Amino acid sequence: MHIVHISVEMAPIAKVGGLGDVVTSLSRAVQDLNHNVDIILPKYDCLNLSNVKDFQYNRSYSWGGAEIKVWFGKVEGLSVYFLEPQNGFVSTGCIYGCRNDGERFGFFCHAALEFLLRSGFHPDIIHCHDWSTAPVAWLFKDHYMHYGLSKARVVFTIHNLEFGAALIGKAVAYSDKATTVSHTYSKEVARNPAVAPHLYKFHGILNGIDPDIWDPYNDKFIPISYTSDNVVEGKKAAKEALQRKLGLKISDLPLVGIITRLTHQKGIHLIKHAIWRTLDRNGQVVLLGSAPDPRIQNDFVNLANQLHSSHADRARLCLTYDEPLSHLIYAGADFILVPSIFEPCGLTQLTAMRYGSIPVVRKTGGLYDTVFDIDHDKERAQAQGLEPNGFNFDGADAAGVDYALNRAISAWYDGRDWFNSLCKTVMEQDWSWNRPALDYMELYHAARK
Ligand code: ADP
Ligand code: GLC
Repeated sequence: MHIVHISVEMAPIAKVGGLGDVVTSLSRAVQDLNHNVDIILPKYDCLNLSNVKDFQYNRSYSWGGAEIKVWFGKVEGLSVYFLEPQNGFVSTGCIYGCRNDGERFGFFCHAALEFLLRSGFHPDIIHCHDWSTAPVAWLFKDHYMHYGLSKARVVFTIHNLEFGAALIGKAVAYSDKATTVSHTYSKEVARNPAVAPHLYKFHGILNGIDPDIWDPYNDKFIPISYTSDNVVEGKKAAKEALQRKLGLKISDLPLVGIITRLTHQKGIHLIKHAIWRTLDRNGQVVLLGSAPDPRIQNDFVNLANQLHSSHADRARLCLTYDEPLSHLIYAGADFILVPSIFEPCGLTQLTAMRYGSIPVVRKTGGLYDTVFDIDHDKERAQAQGLEPNGFNFDGADAAGVDYALNRAISAWYDGRDWFNSLCKTVMEQDWSWNRPALDYMELYHAARK
């Protein structure tokens, strides 16, 4: 089958959040099943071209009053076509927020379909993602489906309804199939009027992570390679390297890591509370995150300064985007905290487990579907063929996060052998695309019937 993704993010060259990870990792998993996958991406000025192999000029065409240059290159083994309209419309220095994104991504979607038409591609599936590539769905059904691309079917994935529900609803209406990135999130959005009429097209397919991109046995950003067999040794070395790098006290204390966009979705008030709670429990805390909203960023800068005076040896807030540091935190932390108010899937809890870190999460969306509480979810875990793997909580107040975090930190202090065996257990759980990629293939086939 030939699948073309049209997307505005792709890890690691143009990533803002999990959407970028999913486009790359799902595509690699489907390609590994011997299908033909291509990706169409805007050629931003901020692309990280050092991660693109064989980057070369491919062709040009005129459309929408502009010449559109097409570049080709390989990213993580995937074929990517980069569109660069010569009107400067798409190729701004940032992915979101530099211009009128609705207008520029609308132009990009149109140009991408035009590219497929003119280059003689006959994809079986055109897969698009979230509001930014929503126009593909209706442009295709209104026009391109009747002119040359008739063989294709459109699959639309909702990663986050928060960003542009109306556009997403319209795209779902025009798509052949729609997915949400976890089963629970598909139920949570079912009452949203933008998508409610189209629920019959909905499938909840859980995201996976790419086990080769996130691999503690083969990760240049951590000090020693490890698997579940030497997880204790591997995590000890990573914790020390993390403490050294950030100037924290080098000491065997429970270390809570948080890796996140700092937005309302991610439970900012709960994150702040958890930082203080961890310090009260004599733990260490490392936060890696940045806020698109300058007021929130400023708020965290103030908190970072305050912590620097009061707890310089046990707390560090790194208020930036830093991929290498994220790897070291996943490996060096004992816990990764994800207290999201809502979370369509969430990848950080899955990556945490791949590195033997224990997730502490709020019970919502994909966090509910992937983290099973040590004390409360044995049966729910076993129904999935799993052992419990973390700590979770309800509610959106301090008492909830305290409940989970206190149990987690107490477990760390009370029984190190038990805790170490839990790290081994979570590392051995399979949160890759092995299963979800097959679900997507089934969906692609169903879309073509
Ligand atoms: P979302 O897409 O809502 O931001 P996900 O959990 O799906 O949430 O994906 C977030 C991705 O972005 C993960 O791969 C995570 O490691 C990464 N990430 C988030 N914040 C940062 C940061 N400040 N630096 C490096 N990576 C980050
Ligand atoms: C969105 C969601 C996140 C999900 C990611 C990838 O950004 O916020 O929960 O994991 O997309 O699907």
